[in-house]
Amino acid sequence: MPENTTTRIEAEVNGAPISAEVEASTLLLDFLREELLLTGAKRSCEVQVCGSCTVLVDGGPVSSCCYLAADIDGRSVVTIEGVRDEPGFEPYERAFIDHAAVQCGFCIPGMILTTKSLADEGELPRDEEGLRDALSGNVCRCTGYRAIIDAVGDIAKAVQR
Ligand code: FES
Ligand code: FES
Repeated sequence: MPENTTTRIEAEVNGAPISAEVEASTLLLDFLREELLLTGAKRSCEVQVCGSCTVLVDGGPVSSCCYLAADIDGRSVVTIEGVRDEPGFEPYERAFIDHAAVQCGFCIPGMILTTKSLADEGELPRDEEGLRDALSGNVCRCTGYRAIIDAVGDIAKAVQR
């Protein structure tokens, strides 16, 4: 008899309760994309370096490519789909548009969620060096970062007192 390796999880994803049976080895990124059809988090490096798969678990950013779906049991998960329609999202969207900070867009969900988690804690730096450091776990292959740093600087001014 093969050993049963599935486990039941009860969690909150983007504000809604979910209950699911997952394999012990299922990655959160795969669970979100394939089971819940939340495709905002992207797969790239798969080794917790690029940040394109970033989602928030209990408010903090995690690399969902290296995080087990089973470990969200009892926790709250937020993806880019969960924040884009929130009233407080407008300054994030506006800043990235104003600075033309998006090219292919692949990195942007992770950039925004990392930014949002820091802003929600009132810890988003306002100076360029601090911003570059804060976003060092989010890699962009297109923009050269200048526009992204300027956009996130605007967000820091807009959403933090
Ligand atoms: S795909 Fe997860 S950190 Fe790069
Ligand atoms: S906009 Fe293309 S990877 Fe960042």
